[in-house]
Amino acid sequence: MRILVINGPNINMLGIRERELYGNKTYKDLIKCIKDYTDDKDIEIEIYQSNSEGQIINKIQEAYKLYDGIVINPAAYTHTSVAILDALKAVNIPTVEVHLTDVDNREEFRKISYVSYFAKKTIKGKGFEGYIEAIDYLKENFK
Ligand code: DQA
Repeated sequence: MRILVINGPNINMLGIRERELYGNKTYKDLIKCIKDYTDDKDIEIEIYQSNSEGQIINKIQEAYKLYDGIVINPAAYTHTSVAILDALKAVNIPTVEVHLTDVDNREEFRKISYVSYFAKKTIKGKGFEGYIEAIDYLKENFK
């Protein structure tokens, strides 16, 4: 199975940004955590991060017919980007939305997620474990 993991803006700043919310682990640690988990499984994984909405959209478009599942943490674009939602709809690849923090228990504006109109499932507030759960969900349901 081929899975594309996409992380949006400032996820590369993990370990530096708002550590009281996002913890001390770095983006490199996140990559290692995902790769260590998928290594001995029948999963081909690509992990991509961009701070740019357009590049995330390009990456989603490029995934067309190449990937069987997408795990996406659109970060701040979650709450603003109809364009990322439309890109996901266009390629129509089963998608799980992940947030490290519990976005429902933060500011009001974080309660809106455009991506969740398309995502099969949304996992919030479970830190790195959320990505593992998302991969397991895709594996169990869309292999
Ligand atoms: C986030 C939550 C978003 O509201 C925020 O803008 C992020 C990260 C999370 O993983 O908890 O950058 O998606």
